[in-house]
Amino acid sequence: SDPLKVALLGCGTVGSAVLRLLEEQAGDLTARIGRPVEVAGVAVRRPDRHPDVPAHLLTTDAHGLVTRDDVDLVVEVIGGIEPVRSLLLAAFEAGKSVVSANKALLADDGVELHAAAAKAGVDLYYEAAVAGAIPLLRPLRESLAGDQLRRVVGIVNGTTNYILSRMAETGHGFTEALAEATELGYAEADPTADVDGFDAAAKAAILASLAFHTPVSATDVYREGISAVTATDVARAAEIGCTVKLLAICERVLADGGDSVAVRVHPAMIPTTHPLASVGGAFNAVFVEAEAAGQLMFYGQGAGGDATASAVLGDLVAVARNRVAGVAGPGVTTYAGLPARPIAET
Ligand code: HSE
Repeated sequence: SDPLKVALLGCGTVGSAVLRLLEEQAGDLTARIGRPVEVAGVAVRRPDRHPDVPAHLLTTDAHGLVTRDDVDLVVEVIGGIEPVRSLLLAAFEAGKSVVSANKALLADDGVELHAAAAKAGVDLYYEAAVAGAIPLLRPLRESLAGDQLRRVVGIVNGTTNYILSRMAETGHGFTEALAEATELGYAEADPTADVDGFDAAAKAAILASLAFHTPVSATDVYREGISAVTATDVARAAEIGCTVKLLAICERVLADGGDSVAVRVHPAMIPTTHPLASVGGAFNAVFVEAEAAGQLMFYGQGAGGDATASAVLGDLVAVARNRVAGVAGPGVTTYAGLPARPIAET
């Protein structure tokens, strides 16, 4: 049967892993989807930097690619707000379903993007945007949609978790631990988004939106990073049986004036007996408390090309199956039943 055609936007660490896995697993993916998947094109800024990608697939015209008639699905692994936001809106308008790994964009413009996808009757999936390989967004959005969530608490940034873990192990201060993380390639050249909690705040907004079925954006999230955590803080925490972690906390707040959702990111001391305390290195984990389900924990690799590509491909299979069936998958409810609590009140 006719192949489903995929436009790939971006070809960095995650994008090249997506391309490789699509090729390696072509046979299995065809069997699972019911139709073969073919790459229609790969949009990049500098084609000369991608010698491994067949030259006829490379283009600098991302807009032309996503609106091409023969393209069915768009996979976006560029990151950042613009030009990606405009490209995805153009894709929806042209009737394409989208798989994205873009936490900043979803945390900023999730409501608008979901509305555009719903209007076009197409899919918007973004499992890879939060905690890399860990299946988390679809469990929150779908598997737990019949339950009432109380709280979602996560370690969703690997860089800061690595730094805090090394501080505890070595007794080093923040600056030394950051330098080590940079040298080993855990921290990026500009570690601001990780260290100051912006990356975790975007992920927290996405988690809260799905867990509580209400729109929450990054600006609703109280945010504090780890640069002020000292070696002494970490040592004192250990003395009282605790460990310091950068937590993303999303919780339902019951109040006389009506329930709301409070979302915050900050370093916290947790008892070493808590399941989140044993999450070391660059791993991620998310602890969920639900009325009927009780306590759940999701754990795994939160970053890395192949791990993140696994989540992208899982979404690609889901979206492709929906295409084959002629349906759109579940959207998100943005009925605003629980408003995000103003930061000053949290
Ligand atoms: N910089 C992120 C982290 C990568 O350290 O977790 C995954 O989003």
